[in-house]
Amino acid sequence: MTDLRSLLSHRFGSSPDVDPEVEDSDIARQLAQRGSCRRFRKDPVSPQLVETLCALALCTPTKSDLQQRDIIIVDNQEQRRSINTLLGNSPWVADAPAFLVFCGNNRRHRQIHTWHGRKFVNDHLDAFFNAAVDAGIALSGFVMAAESIGLGCCPISAIRNCADDVSTLLDLPQFVFPVAGLALGYPDDTTDASLRLPLKATVHRNRFDDSSIHQDIAAYDSRRMKRQPYATQKFEDRFGKAVDYSWSDDKSRQYSEPERTDFGSHVRAKGFKLD
Ligand SMILES: Cc1cc2nc3c(=O)[nH]c(=O)nc-3n(C[C@H](O)[C@H](O)[C@H](O)COP(=O)(O)O)c2cc1C
Repeated sequence: MTDLRSLLSHRFGSSPDVDPEVEDSDIARQLAQRGSCRRFRKDPVSPQLVETLCALALCTPTKSDLQQRDIIIVDNQEQRRSINTLLGNSPWVADAPAFLVFCGNNRRHRQIHTWHGRKFVNDHLDAFFNAAVDAGIALSGFVMAAESIGLGCCPISAIRNCADDVSTLLDLPQFVFPVAGLALGYPDDTTDASLRLPLKATVHRNRFDDSSIHQDIAAYDSRRMKRQPYATQKFEDRFGKAVDYSWSDDKSRQYSEPERTDFGSHVRAKGFKLD
């Protein structure tokens, strides 16, 4: 590992003035150079380890102590195969030694209301949003805990491309919904920390300010092109092959194609009101 300032400079193009209190923290350096893993060794991850990581993930903060997130460990091979099929048999997902699904769960909260004979009156978007955020925070905690001991992970929002099927497969009841899958295992290669937008574009002081966002993204595009060029270009048949294929080009191509347009109806069918 190299020093924190160099790691952050690599990631963001420049480093904040690193505070001495954090300078020597192994966790900070680990986080600064982390990356998602999509190539796993065949070595299994023990059930005890997966369960311990789940426990650590659930130590993360949770909105109003409501604990509206659950983790489903999918270790039944038939279930894994069915999920792989739904995900289009992506080899790195299929080969991952362990697979989990992080869910938002607003069902328990409503059950508590029923048991206490109190009406759940906050039946609006926030109920869905709180559970989704809690699940995302737990996912992040799991990833950080796993990576801190040398495991590799990759979250998989693609499970929401087929939320109805995933939900049926995992027996998710009303008010429980999938947020992301997670592939887990021992990495088969080293991950390169993917470059991030400059901190001046994403960290604001006192009030939001994106007055230089166009220039900031142009500079980021060019930094990424030089240091981490994309291996492939999205929808080349529609948009052609760009000479200078950038991050912003990639993202605008990605979201020019409809995706997950039925997720809203999935969530509504799970009982949520999204007003
Ligand atoms: C909620 C969430 C969902 C994601 N879904 C996918 C996915 O479906 N497929 C995939 O290959 N990567 C997925 N990723 C991984 C991101 O692509 C990855 O985090 C991003 O490219 C930044 O790279 P890094 O994690 O290596 O820094 C997901 C990440 C998050 C946080």
